[in-house]
Amino acid sequence: MIDRVKRDRVIIEPFRIKAVEPIRMTTGEERAALIEAADFNLFALKSDDVLIDLLTDSGTSAMSAVQQAALLSGDESYAGSPSFFRFEAAVKDLMPFKHVLPTHQGRAAEAILFSLLGGAGRKVPSNNHFDTTRGNIEATGAAAHDLVIAEGLDSESLHPFKGNMDLVRLEAFLTQHGAAVPCVMLTVTNNAGGGQPVSLANIRGVAEIARHHGRPFIIDGCRFAENAYFIKQREAGQGDRPVKDIVRDIFGEADGMTMSAKKDAFANIGGWLALNDDALAQAARSRLILTEGFPTYGGLAGRDLDAIAQGLREIIDENYLRYRLRTCAYIGERLTALGVPIVKPTGGHAVFLDARRMLPHIPPLEYPGQPLAVALYVEGGIRSCEIGTVMFGARPDGSEAPAAMDLVRLAIPRRVYTQSHADYVVEVFEDLVADKNNLSGYRIHWQPAAMRHFTAKFRPLQAA
Ligand code: F0G
Repeated sequence: MIDRVKRDRVIIEPFRIKAVEPIRMTTGEERAALIEAADFNLFALKSDDVLIDLLTDSGTSAMSAVQQAALLSGDESYAGSPSFFRFEAAVKDLMPFKHVLPTHQGRAAEAILFSLLGGAGRKVPSNNHFDTTRGNIEATGAAAHDLVIAEGLDSESLHPFKGNMDLVRLEAFLTQHGAAVPCVMLTVTNNAGGGQPVSLANIRGVAEIARHHGRPFIIDGCRFAENAYFIKQREAGQGDRPVKDIVRDIFGEADGMTMSAKKDAFANIGGWLALNDDALAQAARSRLILTEGFPTYGGLAGRDLDAIAQGLREIIDENYLRYRLRTCAYIGERLTALGVPIVKPTGGHAVFLDARRMLPHIPPLEYPGQPLAVALYVEGGIRSCEIGTVMFGARPDGSEAPAAMDLVRLAIPRRVYTQSHADYVVEVFEDLVADKNNLSGYRIHWQPAAMRHFTAKFRPLQAA
């Protein structure tokens, strides 16, 4: 008999819906006024004014019934709560690190780590640093360097692991700057580079080079389960292995990790810093007490720790991961059929539109991602996120340069939207493609000193 679940046709959502949230319907006219009032920054919109919110997959997951139940078993003791020990055991079951320090989210783990490892003159390589990682490194006076393979910068390349680190460049980097490099980072999957996975072979290669140069190797593991499933699907010799074993192999190579539990732990808040080095972990714990809280809760409620512990058990479910990666591939295939340039192959958590190629008449310093994101909102109430020159173009010295790519991310919240929501998104693109030559660029009217994309105010260069 045909195994309907394993066929690559319609992959049903592997869950039923027990609680729903209504979506407030709006008209295009209303949205045109709302986005203007928000200075054309999608972060400034009220989420009630959004129909399909693809701004981020972070903290937006639907929790399972078992996670909701786990909230009730949360123990809110200040010190030594059983929720912490359940959390710690769930993390160590997948990521065999000696010390696990909970934090309120991923960037808190980064801030603690780089308050200890950063500093003027230091240089931190990664495949691509995410914006908060870069921000936390640069805030200490250190520099963040991206050493992703060349294919990772080519949105058309079909390389199966476009998140891989360029090992030749990493070796040269460490040979040249060894003493100034406090650690080697690697982001799995590589969010800033299009949500692309890193192969197990590449992870092992990075670990070996870091070890050879005596540098700690730290993985930013936000989307580790999606990355592990890509390894299972695409890497020779991995196809028959349980995802859990692949996950343990990934982290077994590293000396530590930073994590946002808002991604691959199905939690609405949370994160952690894990380390093997006793002295570094002790110093991190002292920082944690200053900024996050006692080391057995780290800025979280006990109930959050329990939600994470349960989420980690659910995220490695292979039926879920298969559906998850297929959702992005499905939207990607349909957009490609419409002639919309996207980063190929689709990543794990999002579809990345290549705005620079879709809107070649808009130069990078007029931020082609911004008109595309604004048009998606006005046309269809879809909120997306520019990941390009707005996000990465500002330099610490106040100057500006085009980012490597001008992408717009359609991030898919976990277990939240159905295939008909996906079909609606595709329909909005059908209209948008016909109108794309009428889109024009933006200028930044106001921006803060750092992380400008969150609060910058934009003005259209031509009246719409
Ligand atoms: N690292 C990566 C790869 C991330 O994608 C994020 C967050 C972080 C670190 C920081 O984690 O938000 O818990 O502090 N990314 C979100 C996103 C915000 O939309 O991609 P956090």
